[in-house]
Amino acid sequence: MATNMADSFSYDTLFSENSSDTPLNVVKHAKYDFAVAYPAPETLPMDGLIQALRTAVDSDSMKTAQGMAYYPHQLGSQELREYTSEKLTSDRGFTVGADEIALTNGSGESIGLVIQALTNPGDVVLAEEFVYMGTLNQLRRSGADIRGVAIDDGGIIPEALDEQIAELTANGSKPKYLYTIPEHQNPTGSTLSAERRKAILDIAHKHRMPILEDDCYVDLRFEGETQPAFRALDDSGIVVYVASYSKLLAPGLRLGYFTAAPEVMRRALGFKQGSGPNQFAAMAIEGFLRNNLDSHRDSFSPVLRAKRDAMVASLEENFGGSGAEWSTPEGGCYVWLTMPEGADIASIRDEVLEQGVGYVAGTNFEADASGRTGHNCARLCFAFESTQKNTEGIALLAQLFKQHGAM
Ligand SMILES: Cc1ncc(COP(=O)(O)O)c(C=O)c1O
Repeated sequence: MATNMADSFSYDTLFSENSSDTPLNVVKHAKYDFAVAYPAPETLPMDGLIQALRTAVDSDSMKTAQGMAYYPHQLGSQELREYTSEKLTSDRGFTVGADEIALTNGSGESIGLVIQALTNPGDVVLAEEFVYMGTLNQLRRSGADIRGVAIDDGGIIPEALDEQIAELTANGSKPKYLYTIPEHQNPTGSTLSAERRKAILDIAHKHRMPILEDDCYVDLRFEGETQPAFRALDDSGIVVYVASYSKLLAPGLRLGYFTAAPEVMRRALGFKQGSGPNQFAAMAIEGFLRNNLDSHRDSFSPVLRAKRDAMVASLEENFGGSGAEWSTPEGGCYVWLTMPEGADIASIRDEVLEQGVGYVAGTNFEADASGRTGHNCARLCFAFESTQKNTEGIALLAQLFKQHGAM
């Protein structure tokens, strides 16, 4: 007998204590969309990825069929792990074997696994005072007590970090670990110098505090020198290293990875559901990057640089003399805009979006979620829109800020 709709089943008393009613994240796109977190879509090497997949299938169809017929290894594709190991040696200056790398469904999954392995509710975790909100969300879900570390244009200030840890420890809240994005930080665009990294490592050892290094944007440098990874400067196991193929190639591939001391890997992987990530994506990435990494870099670097230049030039033209400040990153995707103290650009964000310009308000990146420090700041993604839209969109943003009394 069919059930009457009026009697629809209620789960009200059945949900787990840990569940929360989470609305689907429906993203609204503005005409000038500086709120996204994507690399330049026109540099996505679709043909190259498809060609690499085709070549992999044709060159050893038996092996490919076997690779596809079974669930992937828990660590993910052997071939892509071997390539990743070689890439880490050549690009990041440290060597780990393919069996010491775990591929995951984006680097977000890697970060989540490590957080679960290291975090008890109430644990104090440090991060840049403005930092990637995806990680903040995962930390909050684990019950971490997140504290922001003071930063300047060069990223974390080592002396401030040392003092903060000493103070927290004296108050019985010794930090468990530091999460940091040292290269082209999200959202500020800053890069930590080698000197600061060394100083931070010394501090980490002094306080016996691991570093969770998120190198998500390292491949997107278009000028200046790439700085050595924390992991390359320290082989003791105190650094957990996470990186991604999302920004170098495409977020839709969903492939990231991490490497850590064996005991950390085992604990983190204990939280992993099922097997390694999608084999098709892994085959395409490995085949494509093995033969085309340099040419791919050569093709996207000038595009990103031109887009950064267009946005910064338009900021100069339209925000110059207003008291606003902005970063000029040497890579990555983001410019960090800081309006004078009194300007509340967080509260007008939705209206400005409706009027044509999207940005992410600084309050979303506050490590301590105080809602106090980021109201006059915004993350502007320069990588997604065209140079022309970067120029026009920033001009419109200035007009809208004036209209709303924020400038
Ligand atoms: C700093 C940082 N880490 C990690 C991620 C997660 O990326 P993915 O899961 O696509 O690798 C992002 C995404 O924007 C990011 O900005």
